[in-house]
Amino acid sequence: MTVADLPKLELHIHHEGAAPPAFIKQLAHEKKVDLSRVFTPDGGYAFENFVHFLSVYEAASSVLTGPEEFARLTSAWLEESAANGVVYTESFISPDFCGGGDLGAWREYLAAIEEAAAAAERKHGITLRGVVTAVRHFGPQKSKRASLYAAETAGRFVVGFGMGGDEGQFAQGDFAYAFDQAREAGLKLTTHAGEFGGAESVWDALNDLNVARIGHGVRAIEDPDLIKELVARQITLEVCPGSNVVLGLFPDFAAHPIQALREAGVQVTVSTDDPPFFHTTMRREYEMLAQAFGWGVEDFAEINQTALRAAFCDEETKAVVA
Ligand code: ADE
Ligand code: ZN
Repeated sequence: MTVADLPKLELHIHHEGAAPPAFIKQLAHEKKVDLSRVFTPDGGYAFENFVHFLSVYEAASSVLTGPEEFARLTSAWLEESAANGVVYTESFISPDFCGGGDLGAWREYLAAIEEAAAAAERKHGITLRGVVTAVRHFGPQKSKRASLYAAETAGRFVVGFGMGGDEGQFAQGDFAYAFDQAREAGLKLTTHAGEFGGAESVWDALNDLNVARIGHGVRAIEDPDLIKELVARQITLEVCPGSNVVLGLFPDFAAHPIQALREAGVQVTVSTDDPPFFHTTMRREYEMLAQAFGWGVEDFAEINQTALRAAFCDEETKAVVA
């Protein structure tokens, strides 16, 4: 057995971002939408930088319509994740990408996703929980609606609220209303910070949104005081090394700060973010980390313990996946 065969917990994967390009290509073909600019000649997703990635992501997501297609997508990526040894995963699900409709429509999307997840759990032994997600560059107004929908559907499946999107737009604090509304509904909180925003963005996430986890957070390495704060508050980082390398934050895995963050005492976990976009899987992330830093079974066991502690699901679910 190699470390890549270990059971894995993944806390940071975007639902639409898990869609294989062939799946999106087929939907575009059926709907007669020209998405040729979204794909490379060899069938991957084509983008040149982070902002371009976000626009390709949105174009690909635009052909995903209706609860039934989201159910098919859920089944497909959960099967793939399970084949990579993932036993528990939390995905970002955005009302804005799920049709952008009213609360009734959102409930239908969610029910379809939940049903597909329950079937995948029976068939492949993988458990999914949802983190309802605002998209930062869609603005604070839409985030309020996303968090309202999150609050209205909070429960066993919807366990958290988060925010992704372009860190260059607006400030974390502009979304405080949405995060407060979600917190009051009992949801756990995470936001993307310290990916394309610097350490300042992570400070803002802590001070203005009071989140328990940070999506990425890797640029915290630029600020020793912030590292101390993350350690003191026991904030968990959802680190996605392969995503960071492909999007150009670091030249390769060996230059990635995950090891330095860990050595400084920060709680780190490992995820894929948008696996087909970044040509990665959880298995590959483990292999690359083992190669870059010499991590062995004990290191990954610690990473998975951290993920279990930081998971947003209830204790009963944790006991099942532990
Ligand atoms: N949405 C999907 N992937 C993302 C990323 N890496 N950063 C911000 N928003 C995203
Ligand atoms: Zn992400």
